[in-house]
Amino acid sequence: MDEFFEMALELIEASEKHEQYRDKECINLIASEGLKSPAVREMLRLSMDLESRYAEGENDLEGHVEKRYYQGQKYMSIIEDRTTDLVKKLFKCSWADVRLVSGTHANLAAFKGLSLTTKSQKMVVTPLSAGAHITHDYSGLAGRVLGLVNIEHAYDIEEMNIDPEKSAAVIRASKPGIITFGGSLFLFPHPVKELKAVADEVDAYIVYDAAHVLGLIAGGVFQDPFKEGADFITASTHKTFPGPQGGVILGNLKGARMEKAIKNVQYAIFPLSTSNTHLGRLPALGIAALELRLFGEALAKQTVKNAQIAGQYLYENGILVLGHKKGFTQSHQIAVDVRAYGGGRKNAENLEAANIILNRNLLPYDNQNNRENPSGLRIGFQDVTRRGFGENDIKHLCDLMLDVIKSKRKPSEVKEDVLALRNEHNEVKYGFRSIKEAIKYLRKM
Ligand SMILES: Cc1ncc(COP(=O)(O)O)c(C=O)c1O
Repeated sequence: MDEFFEMALELIEASEKHEQYRDKECINLIASEGLKSPAVREMLRLSMDLESRYAEGENDLEGHVEKRYYQGQKYMSIIEDRTTDLVKKLFKCSWADVRLVSGTHANLAAFKGLSLTTKSQKMVVTPLSAGAHITHDYSGLAGRVLGLVNIEHAYDIEEMNIDPEKSAAVIRASKPGIITFGGSLFLFPHPVKELKAVADEVDAYIVYDAAHVLGLIAGGVFQDPFKEGADFITASTHKTFPGPQGGVILGNLKGARMEKAIKNVQYAIFPLSTSNTHLGRLPALGIAALELRLFGEALAKQTVKNAQIAGQYLYENGILVLGHKKGFTQSHQIAVDVRAYGGGRKNAENLEAANIILNRNLLPYDNQNNRENPSGLRIGFQDVTRRGFGENDIKHLCDLMLDVIKSKRKPSEVKEDVLALRNEHNEVKYGFRSIKEAIKYLRKM
């Protein structure tokens, strides 16, 4: 066979195998990945024409379609407006933009729009070593793409959190245009309310990056950034928010200050950083918002509970779990230090050989250049929770992980038990099984 056709065949086969392997045969503990319900998946499949379309143009200050430059938008504008409305209602805010194709894109548009608004290039961010996302950092999007200058929040490693008093001094001294909160290694709510008054003093906008915790916020179990004083929330829509891969920015149109900011963020979305907005994901995003409205509280509560149970159990079994003095976590994830057992890389690879999928992670006190073998593992519980894991399943899963980490059994032996545990959980809970079921439910309302 010609090499080109061989490659095409390999591509198709790998895609089929991937679906079976990661969706059916592994237990997924990657904290940044979500699990879609059958209804959300079905909605994606039903939106294939939309997946080919364009809707370039401007939106109004409620986040609704205002102007579009192509014909054929009759239903597309309704789809975008209703998705925006569902997201706005879920997060009790007056403005949203769902045209962002990822959390990175949401940060790009928010940071760009706000730096245009404030005419400041300074942004106070959590240190990368303490869990900020690369998009916040001078070495990534913020610095290298947008030319922003980072000033770091003071971070307390003992507390695994931003130190509010010391950060207040940093903010007063540096007078940034933007202050960010939120992150990728994110165990405890950040001190937004504690620093709101200081942000006001220096007239900085607060951007809360909820990429990881958006679903927990929807469920009411993590801090509510708007109540605490955030001006904007940026997020992915596919982590604890179990929708299609995409991004969102949320805000409240309160007064001239926010109007100016929202207009600049919209400008940063279109025309500055979008042409195609990947419309095919919007109906599925709306369905995920509907599911969170109905089942989000129960899902978020159980997710955090499962993370805490795992933290406690691993700690009791000799693993150094960060944040142990504070109950390990208040989010969907925990961080463990496995230096005593060969480090993050070896353990992540051995667990993968047992079909338990997670990622090695730099911890705040690690040499930050040692990305290849950091001390830590980051473990997320949103996927297994949606599959119906309760306390006993989590402890059983932890036992399997301990067998691998402590080299009690070979990963290939543990894998058999992982497959068995995975197969006990074939239904995705806290959501609809089909669009038909969702429609039936809605018609009764
Ligand atoms: C805190 C945070 N912000 C932004 C992003 C980027 O989101 P996306 O992967 O959707 O571009 C991530 C990704 O994991 C993240 O953890």
